Amino acid sequence: MLFISYAMHRNWLTEHAVLPGRVESAFPKSKDIPKPGRKPSAPMLSKFDYEGFYNKELDKKHKDKSYRYFNNINRLAQEFPRAHMSAKDERVTVWCSNDYLGMGRNPEVLKTMHQTLDMYGAGAGGTRNISGHNQHAVALEKTIADLHGKDGALVFSSCYVANDATLATLGSKLPDCVILSDSMNHASMIQGIRHSGAKKLVFKHNDLVDLEAKLASLPPEVPKIIAFESVYSMCGSVAPIEEICDLADKYGAITFLDEVHAVGMYGPHGAGVAEHLDYDVYASAGPGASASPMKKGTVMDRIDIITGTLGKAWGCVGGYIAASASLVDTIRSLAPGFIFTTSLPPATMAGARTAIEYQARYQGDRRLQQLHTRAVKEDLAERDIPVIPNPSHIVPILVGDAEVAKKASDMLLSEYGIYVQAINYPTVPRGEERLRITPTPGHTKEFRDELVQALEGVWQKLKIKRTSDWKAQGGFVGVGVADKETQVEPLWTDEQLGLRHDVKSEVLQEVLEHESGPEMPAVVAKAAAAA
Ligand SMILES: Cc1ncc(COP(=O)(O)O)c(C=O)c1O
Repeated sequence: MLFISYAMHRNWLTEHAVLPGRVESAFPKSKDIPKPGRKPSAPMLSKFDYEGFYNKELDKKHKDKSYRYFNNINRLAQEFPRAHMSAKDERVTVWCSNDYLGMGRNPEVLKTMHQTLDMYGAGAGGTRNISGHNQHAVALEKTIADLHGKDGALVFSSCYVANDATLATLGSKLPDCVILSDSMNHASMIQGIRHSGAKKLVFKHNDLVDLEAKLASLPPEVPKIIAFESVYSMCGSVAPIEEICDLADKYGAITFLDEVHAVGMYGPHGAGVAEHLDYDVYASAGPGASASPMKKGTVMDRIDIITGTLGKAWGCVGGYIAASASLVDTIRSLAPGFIFTTSLPPATMAGARTAIEYQARYQGDRRLQQLHTRAVKEDLAERDIPVIPNPSHIVPILVGDAEVAKKASDMLLSEYGIYVQAINYPTVPRGEERLRITPTPGHTKEFRDELVQALEGVWQKLKIKRTSDWKAQGGFVGVGVADKETQVEPLWTDEQLGLRHDVKSEVLQEVLEHESGPEMPAVVAKAAAAA
């Protein structure tokens, strides 16, 4: 358009003797334009059918019953553990959240977050390198390092990213590195190992003999990482952490321990299972104290890299690693998943730090959570409803069929107002589908009774196998296996829960019947005092 008017203008100027010569128009006159012939047909390219591809992939998920349906669950801060569905007046009780301790609505956490939000705004404004590094990140990383008794810590957008970035970086940088991975490791670790390009050896879940055989098969001088979890979230099993450290020492490996489902939940300060294994040593430091002064030689000290989330028992979002200063600096300097992404918002980091500090000085929530877990497991055992036995706070109920697990979950929601997500393949192996229940301090007796009655109704209506049915078949994944069931001792002992045998039943009853909330600490304190 601009060119046409320029050419016309120039011709006018020439014609009117303003310019010396006429400029030919760039456009041929219409009589010179050849008549259009037959259009050449477009070459027959066989283009990729993107939509067809998506639909085929989705069809596969529908066919094998692993297609994921999301429920619209709006957890209410003032009514924990209740939520509303898409309609505000449609209330349900949430029984499968990983906000294990209700810290997502803790008044101290919310106050810190409100104040930080008002002062520093919504987002961090950049990556850690470019304008997104601030006092909140510094303070949070110091709190995390102190909690785990490590020299340093590094915060990521999530623990998925922390695991992926750390394993990918170490596995690709350590020369000829081999990563030994527990067969039930979380997708974030599996992905990190894949991204590293390092050789991977999968050892049988929690199997020290298999792990040792695999370690022994490798040359001593080769760098090795043993990657495992403390609490395995879908079955609640717990790793033999100390024995894995022994093997690591023996074969010159380093240990990478994911404590995602244990931080906030175990140990006198909520540092996880590794801390819990030296309960008395760490408890002697007093509430809220840094783990550093008494760390030497403990299990937590022996672990090289601990990873955790800020998004489960601490109720916020984000993930981290805690390790030696040089390892943390290496990941800080080399891991793209840390370097090239916006930092967590200031309010989130400040809130998470408040949550960690709160749980480091107050044990009431996690003790009450354990007591509620025991109560649910006992009630279900009485009804012959098949809980996969484990020593942790997870209550996995075996269904054993993807379609039935989904039906059970739908029925609980629509007929009983109880939300428990079905866990299907690939999160668990086919045939091991389950309902995964996570009690919290807020799940008092009234809620627990509702749950147990609802499960009873669903088990009857859908004719789902009971523990005795599994037993008759010789047992499955620990259900109906007599010696397994009698062997499992909870990680939190009676003594650690503040329950002495002579006062156990009254104190337990009182604690279990009490509402959570502001008065709850007094009840737990009473239980502890009675013991
Ligand atoms: C064992 C384990 N590791 C890591 C993660 C990822 O943690 P985040 O939710 O912080 O990404 C999860 C999440 O469920 C997990 O179960």
